[in-house]
Amino acid sequence: MQQRLSSAALALAAFLSVPAWAETETERGAYLVEHVAACGNCHTPMGPDGPVPGTALSGRFVISAPPFDAWAPNITPAAIGGWTDAEIARAIREGVRPDGTIIGPPMPIELYREISDRDIAAIVAYLRTVPPVENETPRSVYRIKLPESYGPPLTAVAEVPEGETPEYGRYLAGPVAHCVECHTPMEAGHHDYANRLGAGGRVFEGPWGVSMSANLTSDPNGLARWTDDEVIAMIRTGHRPDGSAMMGPMGYGFYAGMRDGDVRAIVAYLRTLPPRLP
Ligand code: HEC
Ligand code: HEC
Repeated sequence: MQQRLSSAALALAAFLSVPAWAETETERGAYLVEHVAACGNCHTPMGPDGPVPGTALSGRFVISAPPFDAWAPNITPAAIGGWTDAEIARAIREGVRPDGTIIGPPMPIELYREISDRDIAAIVAYLRTVPPVENETPRSVYRIKLPESYGPPLTAVAEVPEGETPEYGRYLAGPVAHCVECHTPMEAGHHDYANRLGAGGRVFEGPWGVSMSANLTSDPNGLARWTDDEVIAMIRTGHRPDGSAMMGPMGYGFYAGMRDGDVRAIVAYLRTLPPRLP
C-alpha cells in the first residue's frame, strides 16, 4: 500500500511539474499555425460561417487590390508534400519557392524572416501532419514588381525565451502573428514600422463590409481606453466590452485558442508602443 501510494504520488508530482516546453514539436507547430499565426485566415477556404470544414489550409482567393490579386495556395501535403523541410521553411521565412520564384504579399514574409529556427521546424513538422486536401488555386497576379529577395539567405534565427514579457510578446505580435502588419499604416506601398508601428488606420474590405484596423499604441485613441482583460477578450472573442461584434479580417476564431500567457505577453508588448496616430 505504502509502495503504491508513493508511486502514485511520484506520478502525480511528475505530471504537475511537466514544463510548458514539454509539448512535442508537432504540438507546438499545431498551436502556432492554428492559434497564433492563423495561417488558415488566408490559406483555408472561408464560407459564411468561417473556415469550411474539411478544407483546412487547402488554399483560397484572398484579396483583389490595385497592386495585386492574391491567392494563398494549398499548403497541405497534397500540394507541398514533395518539398523538403528546408524548402518549406525557406518558402515561409524567405519567400522563395523550390523553383526559385518569389512569393508575394500579403504573405507576411518580411515578418516571418524572424520566426526562430525552433518554431519554423515546428510549423513544418505540423504542416506534414495535416490531412491532404486536393485543391488548386490560380497563380496570384502582381501589378507591382516583387523584390528580388527579402534579404540574404537565413542561417540561424535564435529563439526568444517564452514568458509573459514584452520581448516574447513582440516576437508573437510581429514575426509569428503579424498583428503589426494589419495594424501599421502603409507609406508608399510599405508598412511604416519605423514611425507608426501599431497606429492602425488600415482599411479592409471584404464580406464583413469595410473595417479599419484599431490603434494599438498607448495613444488616448488606442489601447489606453481598455484594461488588459478587455483587450484580451477582444482579441479572443471578437467582441468589444459593450458586446458589439468586431469585423474581419482579424482572425478572432483562431486567436480564441491562444494561451493566456501568450496573449498577456502580447498585451504587455503593445503597452510599450509609444503613442502614434495613423
Ligand atoms: C495574410 C495572408 C497570409 C497569411 C497569414 C499566410 N499566408 Fe502563406 N501565402 C499567402 C499568399 C497570398 C501566398 C501566395 C503569394 C504568391 O502567389 O506569390 C502564400 C504562399 C505561401 C506558401 C508558398 C506556397 C506555394 O505553393 O507557392 C507557403 C508554403 C505558405 N504561404 C505558408 C504559410 C504558413 C505556414 C503561414 C502561417 C505561418 C502562412 N503561409 C500565412 C498568404 C498568407
Ligand atoms: C488581417 C488583419 C489583422 C490582423 C492580422 C490582426 N488584426 Fe487586430 N484588428 C483588425 C481590424 C480590421 C480591427 C478592427 C475591427 C473592428 O473595428 O470591427 C482590429 C481590431 C483589433 C483590436 C480592437 C481594439 C479596439 O480598440 O477596438 C485589438 C485589441 C486588436 N485588433 C489586436 C490585435 C492583435 C493582438 C493581433 C495579433 C494577435 C491582431 N489584432 C491581428 C485587423 C487585424
